[in-house]
Amino acid sequence: MSMGNPVDPVFERAFGGAPALCARAPGRVEVIGNHTDYNGGTVIGAAIDRSVWVAIRARADASMVLVTETMPTPITVKGPIARQGGDAAWGNYPLGVLKALEKRGLERDGGFELAVAADLPLGAGLSSSAALELSSAIAFCEAFDLKLSRSELALACREAENEFVGVPCGILDQGVSAFGEADKLVHIDCRGPTFSVVPTPGGIHFWIFSTRQKHALIESLYSTRHQECMAAVVAVAEVFPDVKLLADIDSARLDTVMDRMPDAIGRRARHVVEEIERVGRASSAFSSGDLNEAGRLLLESHGSSRLLFENSTEELDYLVEVLAETPGVYGARLTGGGFGGAVMAMADESFGAEDAGSVGARFSGRFGAPAEIIHVRMADGASLCK
Ligand code: GLA
Repeated sequence: MSMGNPVDPVFERAFGGAPALCARAPGRVEVIGNHTDYNGGTVIGAAIDRSVWVAIRARADASMVLVTETMPTPITVKGPIARQGGDAAWGNYPLGVLKALEKRGLERDGGFELAVAADLPLGAGLSSSAALELSSAIAFCEAFDLKLSRSELALACREAENEFVGVPCGILDQGVSAFGEADKLVHIDCRGPTFSVVPTPGGIHFWIFSTRQKHALIESLYSTRHQECMAAVVAVAEVFPDVKLLADIDSARLDTVMDRMPDAIGRRARHVVEEIERVGRASSAFSSGDLNEAGRLLLESHGSSRLLFENSTEELDYLVEVLAETPGVYGARLTGGGFGGAVMAMADESFGAEDAGSVGARFSGRFGAPAEIIHVRMADGASLCK
């Protein structure tokens, strides 16, 4: 049994006795590559030292009982895996993962008890949902004896989110949570997908400034952007039939077909295509240790999200603007889907809690609400509890 993790006490309180095993998966920052993943492009992220833990124990009867430390009522599912609503909607992540694993051969005779705990803030733009998916996947595979590779795990988790939860996300969040390593960035070529790690020169600190704002329509806005990108592909393919995804065209070729698209669709396409090119330049900058250039590209990426992809907000723009002029900060940008959420700053060691606090103070002075500030380092990906 695992000791000293935050989920064992939650499990014991809910079910009595110890769990059979426990798994942990980290959240992520999207370093650069905004909305490139589902367009078949490249993206760079980092797993962080904030996680979700899942503890599990098989049951002899068929019931599946799920608890989380933040919700008072357990979820009980008897019979087929069914989609949950209302306060129980968080259960769709582990249940969707279980369904995806059953498609891949997971077999079980009975049900289980499952508990969740986290030191990763929920809804702060650090992808707690992917962390819950990956930790659940590892726990289910170990408890019911299914062997899958890391990429199969990431893909099963993405499938759960696409098909069971109903969000058309790409592979970024699950891929980074699965493949992260301390002091390394995760580079994903989303078409394969292929995952690799990029060592960093060291001394990189990420600071998250979460606005804690969530646009009421966030999921539908994300889906709208997804549809707009696919509409751009249809328009481009009329001229270049080899283009199946936006990653198949470069900015020079895109220029020649811009007049075939409505203005907004063209701007979405331009953002994605140029962002993929920026990821390539950022990847070289990180590999050669040129953090100033990498930081400059982060700022450029934010500008493109703001003007072309239009998934930023006044609050996120303000944070980026203040951070850009703060000493010790290489660069800053919105991280993740956008439409609220968080800004991440990449900083050196000279930037500390006091500096972050003054950025926060300027933010609350302007908007009357505090930003949640979280200092994170690059950490290892999902695993069984040690
Ligand atoms: C969310 C999604 C990811 C990715 C980003 C935007 O985090 O879950 O798949 O599309 O938004 O880059």
